[in-house]
Amino acid sequence: MHGLPTEHYTSPALFERERERIFGRLWLFAGLKMMVSRSGAYYARTLAGRPIVLQNLGGEVGCFLNVCAHRNAQVQPEGVGVRAFVCGYHGFRYAIDGSVAQIPMEETHYRYTPKERCSLALRRFSLEQVGELLFVNFADDPLPIHEQFSPELLSQLAEVSHYFDTDLIEAAHTGRYNWKLPGENLRDLLHPRFVHPQSLFPLFDFERPPTEPRAPSEGRTKLREVSYGGAEGRAKKDFSWPWWNQLERWPKASEDYYNWLLFPNLHIASPDGCRTFGIEQYDPVDVGHTRLVHFMLTSRQKDRLPEGDALLRGMLRGARSILEEDTNIMESVQRSFVSGSPTMQLGAYEHDLHQFVTVTQDLLDD
Ligand code: FES
Ligand SMILES: [Fe+2]
Repeated sequence: MHGLPTEHYTSPALFERERERIFGRLWLFAGLKMMVSRSGAYYARTLAGRPIVLQNLGGEVGCFLNVCAHRNAQVQPEGVGVRAFVCGYHGFRYAIDGSVAQIPMEETHYRYTPKERCSLALRRFSLEQVGELLFVNFADDPLPIHEQFSPELLSQLAEVSHYFDTDLIEAAHTGRYNWKLPGENLRDLLHPRFVHPQSLFPLFDFERPPTEPRAPSEGRTKLREVSYGGAEGRAKKDFSWPWWNQLERWPKASEDYYNWLLFPNLHIASPDGCRTFGIEQYDPVDVGHTRLVHFMLTSRQKDRLPEGDALLRGMLRGARSILEEDTNIMESVQRSFVSGSPTMQLGAYEHDLHQFVTVTQDLLDD
């Protein structure tokens, strides 16, 4: 089995095609519902090169291109906050459907024709809620989300995320690697033995003999098969923390390491049986750079943990040191993609990884 030809990691033209055919058409994780849970709350970020804003107005959440319809200023500043849905440049106020609700000094200074007035609107994108997880689709006519993710996966994520706590920490880091390398790395369960010999490998067992490759399936089913998740690794040692009994967790959880991989670029991990979670999104910046947007949170705290903030920061530090080990490897792989470097040769155990690259290629050819 072969991996993708190396130009898929180096060609700006192929990257643009991926932006259009993959990131422009599929459902992408945009943020968490809890970040925009009250009226006026917003979360503004960049996703696959587009500035977007999730905005709550009167309890309804919309997702918009964060570019003012007047003269293109950013409507909401980057990050989370609570603020009227008003552009800071000339005060145009927007409604939840994206239309302009109010323009200061409209009569005297703008005198738009009715047609011009109608065309003033923020671009609104389709949004789907899966429990706490919000997914956006940039297409005008998006595919149904259950064609991208199986109903079983969607209902499990909805159930699990129902137990997410409302305190979270967010961090971001840009690495020098193509966005597909983490997608491949995460579907490679043998790498912890070599890349994380001191950190992850002594604690968890992810390895299993390769299963017989499933029969290739057609069309959308194939797309669904590259997104999956659940209990994936066993702890090699018993460990527990006193604050665990302060958490209310998903009742179906076992004591395993949980991993969920959602094509194209989302990874949710819970190393401790759904007590704490890391949500990682590998956002493509350009063909050789990827921005990791990383959230950490615990499951619902029955009483607020007194050291909750310090705990989240500690979790983030721990996760970052493991991710750094992955980053070093991915950056070295990216550096090797000079012209003439060999196409990757995949073994039987890399079946999931192979499916990931096959689906990527199919979507480009579509
Ligand atoms: S650019 Fe936004 S109100 Fe003018
Ligand atoms: Fe890793």
